[in-house]
Amino acid sequence: MFRETRLAAADLIWPIFVTEGSGVTDPVASLPGVSRRSVDGIVEQAREAVSLGIPCIALFPYTQADRRSDDGAEALNPDNLMCRAIRAVKDAVGSDLGVLADVALDPYTSHGQDGLLDASGYVANDDTVAVLVDQAIVQAEAGADIVAPSDMMDGRVRAIRMALEMGGHHNVQIMAYAAKYASAFYGPFRDAVGSSGVLQGDKKTYQMDPANGEEALREIALDIAEGADSVMVKPGLAYLDIIWRAKQAFDVPIFAYQVSGEYALVEAGVAAGVGEREALVMEKLIAFRRAGCTGILTYHAPQAARWLANA
Ligand code: PBG
Repeated sequence: MFRETRLAAADLIWPIFVTEGSGVTDPVASLPGVSRRSVDGIVEQAREAVSLGIPCIALFPYTQADRRSDDGAEALNPDNLMCRAIRAVKDAVGSDLGVLADVALDPYTSHGQDGLLDASGYVANDDTVAVLVDQAIVQAEAGADIVAPSDMMDGRVRAIRMALEMGGHHNVQIMAYAAKYASAFYGPFRDAVGSSGVLQGDKKTYQMDPANGEEALREIALDIAEGADSVMVKPGLAYLDIIWRAKQAFDVPIFAYQVSGEYALVEAGVAAGVGEREALVMEKLIAFRRAGCTGILTYHAPQAARWLANA
């Protein structure tokens, strides 16, 4: 009765990984319990999400090496794996489930960076934005309900919003990865989408310095001004202060991404006997709500939804 915050399955977004083929379940070694699934399996997971009361999934493609290129052109192929998965999910579950599509080039580039490189190897902001706009449109046309630019280029939210409006996609939302840090916690994700082996250098020229909080508020303010419907702070637990500050400063839905390394650390801790999985996961998830989050992207979404249903 005196509880100040609550967590429900309706607060969760479930990130899932799609791979080519049919009937494929391909475990991600660095993310115990998480597998890449072929499109048929993604449809099963989408139905599972609906039955668990999870309102949205976030899709990420594992792109085979021969479909990667310096310019990430596969991102703009309307029949790429991502678009086929979006269409299959929407055909199967319609408006019962939201589909969030990540906008960034890293699953498609041969160098693993989120954008295009200039002659010196620097990720070129404006050239990248032009491609991200086309990627977002391709995803919207496939049926994505939310496009989520995770690339951290400047000005991309405005450019994507304009293109969505011009293209008649007025109802497609933008969830901006507004404060995304250059984090050591993304390792298992890069394995899952196949970019860890290929990534050259780091992402520090466009992702944020973990030492900066004021800058996060400026980044969030920019994305809201440019037309973001909701904003994200990423990673999660190490950045609760940013969520809290954003909640005080802005009146938009704020989401936290509890990233792959955070998931993997919990699983490693459980395996090492540090604690019990449900207790560890649920304590972390309620902390995001306490800090001011509307919702949380977490690989533990299906387990958490089950625990909540049995609570
Ligand atoms: C890529 C992207 C990343 C994640 C989501 N989108 C990785 C990165 O920036 O290198 C990480 C998610 C996770 O670790 O779970 N644009």
